[in-house]
Amino acid sequence: MKVGNNIEIKVGDITTADVDVIVNAANEKMLGGGGVDGAIHRAAGPELLAACRKVTPVDGVRCPTGQARITPAGQLKAKFVIHTVGPQYHYHRHPEALLASCYRHSLDLALEHDCSTIAFPAISCGVYGYPLKEAADIACKVCHAEKYQGLEIVFYLFDQQIASVWQSVFGAQPG
Ligand code: APR
Repeated sequence: MKVGNNIEIKVGDITTADVDVIVNAANEKMLGGGGVDGAIHRAAGPELLAACRKVTPVDGVRCPTGQARITPAGQLKAKFVIHTVGPQYHYHRHPEALLASCYRHSLDLALEHDCSTIAFPAISCGVYGYPLKEAADIACKVCHAEKYQGLEIVFYLFDQQIASVWQSVFGAQPG
């Protein structure tokens, strides 16, 4: 479903997305995990894990919460994977600022690498416990910023329940 000039909402598996860059909801170690992280690593193959290992860790952290890192995408159709680490809703003190920062850093990295299409999952909305409506409000606000209007943004949401929340939030926005 199109929800604006450059934003689309789909129900499905993000690893099948035909885009320049797929965003992964990773953790700070950036060496894989469960959920969408596990699915992306399985589909991309060992090249993705090898690319992640090349990102230099600081005290074991390759990507701090709220930031993003870019790697090649292994066997995925995409050129790149952007790994971003969402906040844990009941653990971090300002989860809304951190989640907005994940979206902004990911979109900025995509622009810096001349990507024109980007696919997002619902960052932090699984194991990290972010309420769907609050997360959708933040994603919606950041994605509508003027500087990202040249990017085609696709949300790949895993089931219809999540997609319905995204559709009602994004659908309520002008243009
Ligand atoms: N495609 C699209 N969305 C997916 C897929 C997939 N293949 N698999 C899971 N999801 C959805 C989940 O349904 C959820 O809505 O992605 C959303 C994010 O859920 P998680 O993957 O649990 O991510 P998050 O809440 O950000 O937690 C991150 O989970 O596995 C770990 O390494 C990861 O520790 C990190 C944590």
